Amino acid sequence: MKKPAPSYETPEVRETAELIRGRRTIDLYLQTPVPGELVRDAIETAIWAPNHHVTEPWRFYLLGEEAKTRCLDLCYDIVSATKGEEKAAFKRRSWSEKPGWLVVTCERSDDELRQREDYGACCAAVQNLLLYLWKVGLGSKWTTGPITRDDRFAEIVGFDPAQAFVVGLIWFGYAKVTPEQSRRPLAEVLETLP
Ligand SMILES: Cc1cc2nc3c(=O)[nH]c(=O)nc-3n(C[C@H](O)[C@H](O)[C@H](O)COP(=O)(O)O)c2cc1C
Repeated sequence: MKKPAPSYETPEVRETAELIRGRRTIDLYLQTPVPGELVRDAIETAIWAPNHHVTEPWRFYLLGEEAKTRCLDLCYDIVSATKGEEKAAFKRRSWSEKPGWLVVTCERSDDELRQREDYGACCAAVQNLLLYLWKVGLGSKWTTGPITRDDRFAEIVGFDPAQAFVVGLIWFGYAKVTPEQSRRPLAEVLETLP
């Protein structure tokens, strides 16, 4: 039987919960272009994430066609060096179908606690971003594959890897397929102390 709605629930609360629960990581996209203004609005909203000491440690890099092509070439080089040319060509083709490319970086810090908290803040900003995109009908995928840790990627994107590191390469666009997902039941992840 479905759980009865809690007394505090309003349509807005339900809608917010459905937005958070319904967002899915999207792998396959339509080739419909995404308005640039929409992505800029999403980023402007995303940076209202909590960040300790208001360090605002994030930077966003929206890639154009030239930068994307350079990333595809780098992807090919990285994969062909380890897995061969056939796999590299396959990956390059599949990556070439990701419509939007956004790189999110976090400022480096020598202070371990600050680094951890800054990374946490950047992750919160990314989640804000993904939820905003989902609300306006856009799917996305947060990725952290080997390319994102390669100095050649930093060079293409235009940041100094000694000063910042990649939190995620975010692909976005209109979803072609929305997969199913599940989560563990609450009882498995929540301890309530007396
Ligand atoms: C920090 C981080 C890194 C991720 N990196 C990858 C990745 O490299 N490749 C990938 O397929 N998915 C990646 N994901 C997405 C997860 O695989 C995805 O969130 C998970 O499968 C749950 O699916 P959902 O987002 O639809 O709930 C990453 C997610 C996070 C938070």
